[in-house]
Amino acid sequence: MKILGFNASPRQDGNTSWVLNKILEGAAERGAETRLWHCGGLDIKPCQGCLGCVRSDGCVLADDMREIYAALKPAEALVLASPVYMGQMTAQAKTFVDRLFAQITPRFSPKFKEENAGKKLLLAFTQGNPDPAMFQAYFDYTQKMFQLLEFEVRGLQVVAGTREEPAREQRGWPEALKAAGAALVI
Ligand SMILES: Cc1cc2nc3c(=O)[nH]c(=O)nc-3n(C[C@H](O)[C@H](O)[C@H](O)COP(=O)(O)O)c2cc1C
Repeated sequence: MKILGFNASPRQDGNTSWVLNKILEGAAERGAETRLWHCGGLDIKPCQGCLGCVRSDGCVLADDMREIYAALKPAEALVLASPVYMGQMTAQAKTFVDRLFAQITPRFSPKFKEENAGKKLLLAFTQGNPDPAMFQAYFDYTQKMFQLLEFEVRGLQVVAGTREEPAREQRGWPEALKAAGAALVI
């Protein structure tokens, strides 16, 4: 089973990266083949809305999304990890999600392809605020949005309170995150 991870924090060694690595570690221990991208080192341009992907099969932009598109096709699961920025996912995460349009669309879209539907998705957020429910409305919305994109949403991990205590120092998370990653593997 192939599982991709996308770290949407510009910090390659921050809280979100640590969380994502633990999730992928759990999946790898269960036999998954995992691959991780850090947005910080990548050239991913915002969608230009040219609809080139509707006319042909693929995005016209020549940047690092090309490699991710190729890896995403045969992948069975995606783990999207983002810090909360101003109550939402980072701009880097949103840019990545917009670019998925070249490959993954809702069922009602004229360019919907069954072969790209049904991938598992696990969301992970880290946030400075200690209340993990503070942005619940946004997290619920985001999960619904991915369901609309025909992902099989397999849950959400919210590591809160990183302002006071970095994720890697909070007790209980390594086990919980590894278990969430392992649960992605059939
Ligand atoms: C621009 C910016 C906006 C942020 N907005 C929020 C926020 O709205 N709520 C919150 O709880 N934390 C917020 N934070 C804190 C981050 O979510 C938190 O520090 C996160 O764990 C950082 O992840 P990283 O170490 O992977 O970059 C913000 C941080 C930055 C830099």
